[in-house]
Amino acid sequence: MKVATRSDVSEGEVRVFSADGVGIALANVGGEFYALADVCTHDGGPLGEGALWGEDIECPRHGARFDVKTGRVRALPAVLPVRTYPVQLNGDEVLVDVG
Ligand code: FES
Repeated sequence: MKVATRSDVSEGEVRVFSADGVGIALANVGGEFYALADVCTHDGGPLGEGALWGEDIECPRHGARFDVKTGRVRALPAVLPVRTYPVQLNGDEVLVDVG
């Protein structure tokens, strides 16, 4: 489903959207869009309010980092991957499949 338009998220930024009641952290890395659950696997932190470091997103609560492409942990204290969602672009629309 459509969650945003391309211009909603600038390169190097992440913003939070809702898709079917699911909180989505939508990241723009070099013009590519990646969607992750807006919940950190460490302690439920608001991942989408964190910062992007290249292809990593950093949780604002305790600093865990995750790969935005795969959800894999890149830095402690998180140990479990965060869920990712498939993204498709349709013109200016950013579509996310929340399953
Ligand atoms: S809740 Fe995200 S690092 Fe602790």
